[in-house]
Amino acid sequence: MVEEIKASELNPEEFISRKIEEIKSTVGDGIAINALSGGVDSSLVTMLGHKALNERLLTYFIDHGLMREGEPQHIVDLFANLGVKVELVDARDEFFSALDGVEDPEEKREAITRTFYKDVFGRLVRESGAKYLMQGTILTDVDETIAGIKRQHNVLSQLGIDTEEEYGYETLEPLIQLRKDGVRKVAEAAGLPEEIYNRMPFLGPALAGRVIGEVTPKKIETVRKATVIVEELLADSGAFQYMAILHKDRVTGMRDGAREFGQQIEVRCWESIDARTATPTRVPHEVLEKIADRLVNEVPGVVSVTYNVTAKPPSTMEAV
Ligand code: XMP
Repeated sequence: MVEEIKASELNPEEFISRKIEEIKSTVGDGIAINALSGGVDSSLVTMLGHKALNERLLTYFIDHGLMREGEPQHIVDLFANLGVKVELVDARDEFFSALDGVEDPEEKREAITRTFYKDVFGRLVRESGAKYLMQGTILTDVDETIAGIKRQHNVLSQLGIDTEEEYGYETLEPLIQLRKDGVRKVAEAAGLPEEIYNRMPFLGPALAGRVIGEVTPKKIETVRKATVIVEELLADSGAFQYMAILHKDRVTGMRDGAREFGQQIEVRCWESIDARTATPTRVPHEVLEKIADRLVNEVPGVVSVTYNVTAKPPSTMEAV
């Protein structure tokens, strides 16, 4: 049972010093590695690890081919500006092969987890001699995995996975007592820029979680283009999170006077405090029309756009 530290009771500076000491004493003079995605959780882990271990923390950005437009290089450059070296690892082929033919949501998550922690990280750990993997699991990830709602891709021990035995490394989870609001407070105090500490949540399985059914490079390209438009037009909404989802079913549309049996994008935009419950944002109709207009005109193959008006629960925020 993990004891929660509520954002209101949190002293960020004290938390940072305590975690730095804990990381130092656990890793000793060994090497730790971690994966940075640019999300607030993995960014904070990177900063804490960097402060504690300096160059004995090896940070990788795993490019699984599922990130948003321009994201891998942007994050690597942003951390370079903070004095943190991040190595970009191209693992696109490995992830797409693992996802080939997989339709079921949990099987997709499982394929990503395995490829990430066993194949890619297993290799990096062997090559680097690291004994520790640091990761940004937070309390909500643990709760929802234990409750069987969704397997969060970074929750391992709670699923009975002994990483030391199975993958050859021990995991350190310095943020496990926090929820998102607490992580943001600590991230600001740790010197991360606002773009990071206020960053909209983005799921570990990345755009694979925004494609219903089988994930292919072509479908990822479609949802990636749609994501650029949705994120641009909802940037001023003040919402907790917004997203584009590519559906599997096709519908009849028409373009240039001809029938087009095309694809559908579902737009979701959420009001939430901690992602445990959420309600759809009342986005003005004109904004929704603008989104739809741009999606059908700028994303090849898309003929239909819908907006979700169901709360979580019973919906979940992501569709997969
Ligand atoms: P759901 O869809 O479970 O999402 O209502 C709640 C919040 O968690 C994010 N999410 C994930 N984050 N790995 C993550 O790191 C995952 O597998 C994952 N699935 C969902 C989602 O974006 C939302 O903020």
